[in-house]
Amino acid sequence: MTLSDKIKQELREKGQFPYGKRDRAYQSIDGQPGIRDMNHRYDVINFPKSFDGETVIDFGCSVGAICIEAKRRGAKRVVGLDLKQPISVAKGLAEELDLDIEFYEFDIDKGLLALKQLIGLDTFDHVFALSIWAHCDETILAQMINYYTDKICWFEGHNATTYGDTKSKMDIELEKLLDLPYHEYIGETSDRSVRQNYKISRSNRIDMTRKDEFVYFSGDVYDTVIEANHDYENKKPGGNHLIDTNSYRDGKYNFNGKFSCFLGDSNSSEGIKLISYDPSVTNLSDKKEIVERIFRIQSKLSEAGFSSKPLEIIDCHDSNTFYYGIKMENLKGKFVQPSEEWIQELVDFCKQNNLSREGWDIRKDCVPKNCIEVDGKVYLVDIDYRWTDAI
Ligand SMILES: C[S@@+](CC[C@H](N)C(=O)[O-])C[C@H]1O[C@@H](n2cnc3c(N)ncnc32)[C@H](O)[C@@H]1O
Repeated sequence: MTLSDKIKQELREKGQFPYGKRDRAYQSIDGQPGIRDMNHRYDVINFPKSFDGETVIDFGCSVGAICIEAKRRGAKRVVGLDLKQPISVAKGLAEELDLDIEFYEFDIDKGLLALKQLIGLDTFDHVFALSIWAHCDETILAQMINYYTDKICWFEGHNATTYGDTKSKMDIELEKLLDLPYHEYIGETSDRSVRQNYKISRSNRIDMTRKDEFVYFSGDVYDTVIEANHDYENKKPGGNHLIDTNSYRDGKYNFNGKFSCFLGDSNSSEGIKLISYDPSVTNLSDKKEIVERIFRIQSKLSEAGFSSKPLEIIDCHDSNTFYYGIKMENLKGKFVQPSEEWIQELVDFCKQNNLSREGWDIRKDCVPKNCIEVDGKVYLVDIDYRWTDAI
């Protein structure tokens, strides 16, 4: 849909920053030029292809390009805040494009309390704070980011010449101002001077983009590595287990199955189980429902001694999406074929408790790649989204 001449004119006249000094809006949008090339920025920061079911807020949203793009990509709730002129243009754009976005005229310096009164207390999956911190009180902005960020804050600085926003300064300042534990530097935008970009998050970044490869645990960031892909066929029972010499490099190991994988550490009593989702499931709340179901089933099985103990559901993200993992008891044993007697007990227990595996006999899961023996006790570890319970 092409924009009307009226809105194009408003973009040119009221969408500028600084106001009255340019011949075009600050942000490019729908073919209209801007001082900032939004497509370049989306490329650099790897702007998510989908925001399906997620929530987004943009501090200093200008004419609303980020909000509009997030809404178009499926976001559930989108809020944009800026001063009078750009917000009037953003509202006009949303109306013309028929997008349900909450744009508010709001001066960030009014503080967190005023903002809570305006937009409510709900936090957001994505918080954007791009090229804004020099234009408002940075401590107040930081309080807002700290409060409203549920998962990720996307942060862009200003240029180094005028504002001194070098990477080393930003590293220190952001660490000081924000209470989000994970800092990931994502590169420079260069459409208007050079600016540093960060993804600062509460959730673990676990990169599962190559799900059919192994993942490698290094500190807080998990990365896919090809060289870890050893073939253990005939050496270890079933599947792709990283449980030999190389897997203990740095004490980390994992098991990567088609429907779930487990990231562990030989020194730790806990590991993280990641669940692959049915590809049709993209919505965050659907993913949550599935992981809660797996947690419930795993808890039931663990209480009865058939499986390892799930501890808590944790937020994760990779460069494309958010998802959930389960922090689990880390079983350190060996893979075994359970006895017929053990299998029968498990099958009976599942029947009594209405637990089943869609289109599959639970017995068929009782093979060495899914079963670990520790101190003479056997545990089934491979519980994935195909398991159902009666709730
Ligand atoms: C450099 S532009 C960045 C716009 C947008 N975040 C982006 O990166 O494309 C700064 C924006 O912050 C807005 N702004 C400046 N001071 C503000 C304040 N105190 N409260 C809210 N917005 C403010 C301006 O109106 C302008 O739209």
